[in-house]
Amino acid sequence: MSKIKLFAGGEIPIEMHRVSTVHNIRLIPVEDRLAALDEAGNCSYNLKSEDVFIDMVTDSGFNAMSDEQAGAFHLADYAYAGSTTYYKMADKVKEILGKDYFLPVHQGRACEQMLARSFVKPGDLIPTNFHFCTFQTQVRLQGGDLVEFLQDKGLTTGGEDGFKGDYDLEKLEKFLSETPKERVPLIRIEAGTNLIGGQPISMDNILAVSAIAKKHGIRTLLDMSLVMDNLHFIKTRDEKRRGMSVREIMREMADAADIIYFSGRKLGFARGGGICMNDKADFLTVRGYVSCFEGFPSFGGMSSAEMEVMRVGFDDTMDENVISQGPDFIEYMVEEFKKRGVPVVTPAGGLGCHLDADRFCDHLGKKDFRGAALAAAIYLVSGARGMERGLSSEKPEDSIAPFELVRLAVPRRVYTLSHIMYVIDRVTWLYKHREMIGAMRWEDESIEEHSFIDFLRPVGDWREKLAAEYKKANLE
Ligand code: F0G
Repeated sequence: MSKIKLFAGGEIPIEMHRVSTVHNIRLIPVEDRLAALDEAGNCSYNLKSEDVFIDMVTDSGFNAMSDEQAGAFHLADYAYAGSTTYYKMADKVKEILGKDYFLPVHQGRACEQMLARSFVKPGDLIPTNFHFCTFQTQVRLQGGDLVEFLQDKGLTTGGEDGFKGDYDLEKLEKFLSETPKERVPLIRIEAGTNLIGGQPISMDNILAVSAIAKKHGIRTLLDMSLVMDNLHFIKTRDEKRRGMSVREIMREMADAADIIYFSGRKLGFARGGGICMNDKADFLTVRGYVSCFEGFPSFGGMSSAEMEVMRVGFDDTMDENVISQGPDFIEYMVEEFKKRGVPVVTPAGGLGCHLDADRFCDHLGKKDFRGAALAAAIYLVSGARGMERGLSSEKPEDSIAPFELVRLAVPRRVYTLSHIMYVIDRVTWLYKHREMIGAMRWEDESIEEHSFIDFLRPVGDWREKLAAEYKKANLE
């Protein structure tokens, strides 16, 4: 149980943990937030964390550890080779995922680099429900590319379909029947699907993709960085699997994949990453790259202390009371925003609450950096930072992000309901004053390949006017 009904009516998500170690935060005045934005080039990623009141830029590496995880830190065996910590983690992987081989690496994108180096050659094409930027980069560095097969329902910000991360199976079949098998070394499944608003993929769809891959003799690759949320959604949205335990659901999913990888900065409340598989030949190939680029295969760039934390985190991931906390808070935000008319991605997904910046800022043009402008404005009126998912973080020529979003990530076990209510309140204030949000431009337009941490400049003095209007409201 992670939601309670109130005697006064309605229900709220309730934290199934209590706090024993805290990190103090501060809300700097709005004038200082304006100055901090200047210094950060109006990009939320460049803000200093000490200037941020509520940090919702990502959940990555920012989830809170449990007391057992904090204790496990001291169990680390730092032996270079044959470390007990490694064997305990490998046993946990075998127990939960049923995979014989485990290779630690320092974070998720390192898994992707090892896998791309191992399996992708120039001209290869990797089907995926939706891309994630770090995986796409690694595949492209090897001369391959991704092909997306997301169903149309996933490319909308609205609707109530519970599994918007599903593959279009017909399109996948058609593609495979027309493409030489040697050019398709992997079929990737991202569970849940980050860039479309943390939306889950259904188990039936995963099983169907895996069956198609098997039929064509292609490896199924599962990115389970966001699986905590996806497991919760399968448990709560899939009638057929309501009676199954989280462990059973996890195993059914894992059995459908030949290779599994994850960012341990998301999965397991730690910081690291790992690759798991059963095929010995594949393992030896990937292991060669791990020892070349990451570290000896028993630690692969991870600290042993973090590996101990990750092992305990894997058990936490199998506990519905633990994994429901993020999605329940996100659902609360989404429902409250809907009541207030604030445009959000629906239904609630995992990872965070995603504001629809296209609708929020529909008075701005497509090239006005609606998402980035909204993220800057949110920081100004609340001290909370989200991140834009749109023009500045995706290359427009890829037409990857068909929409502009602002993600308000909900790192797990970090913030309480009062923090969440505060953010909802301030974003609602901003929505009522949305016409005041103005455009952004790249500060240096001469740069050809922009990155999402490049500086932006506001068009005109809208930020100053917005700050003055917020001050007038006398809310701080
Ligand atoms: N796969 C998915 C689905 C991710 O969300 C991420 C990271 C990665 C792979 C790469 O993992 O960061 O450990 O190298 N997502 C972060 C985010 C960056 O903020 O959503 P990493």
